[in-house]
Amino acid sequence: MYHMGLSPPIGAAPEEVRALLAPIRNDFTIALHAADNAFAVGAIIRVAHSFLAREIVIIGDAPYYEKASMGMEKYETLVRVADDEAFLAHVEGRPLWAVEKDHATTDLYSVPSFPPNVVLLFGSERFGVPESLIARAQAVIGIPIYGVNHSLPLAIAAGIVMSEWARRKYASGALL
Ligand SMILES: C[S@@+](CC[C@H](N)C(=O)[O-])C[C@H]1O[C@@H](n2cnc3c(N)ncnc32)[C@H](O)[C@@H]1O
Repeated sequence: MYHMGLSPPIGAAPEEVRALLAPIRNDFTIALHAADNAFAVGAIIRVAHSFLAREIVIIGDAPYYEKASMGMEKYETLVRVADDEAFLAHVEGRPLWAVEKDHATTDLYSVPSFPPNVVLLFGSERFGVPESLIARAQAVIGIPIYGVNHSLPLAIAAGIVMSEWARRKYASGALL
């Protein structure tokens, strides 16, 4: 048994597709801090749609390329917040996990489970997640890597974490 995505009715309006997806949407949120790579932001929107994230929160005014998002923003809840304080207010009450290798308190594959409603915060390509937000996170997750390069591209890192979230759901037997 496998689940490989839905086929929305041809010609359905975005609101119809969103309504179709609402009951099967997952509870994790993707947050991007000061993302400085419009292609990465677009790709993450596309991938977050594929994994049916609850929200994509963009801290700052990062643009995204629609060629990379493939128009998937139409079906997603994109929340833009001006700064870190507005971000923390927006996600208050939800577990905040930073994804950042240098400050990792654990690695992605050793995490026993993702908490309900977790907010997964990623940093910019140049500066990573700022220490001020690392300090506010309940966990800091590192993705094991083996080469001499210091880190993964932002969009790849976000894809790996979403895939690991989905792998665990899938392994539990939940198809949707
Ligand atoms: C290109 S990295 C930024 C690295 C930054 N230049 C630094 O040295 O801190 C962009 C973002 O992708 C994520 N990332 C990349 N590689 C990662 C890894 N191995 N483990 C955890 N997060 C990673 C983090 O969220 C990071 O902030």
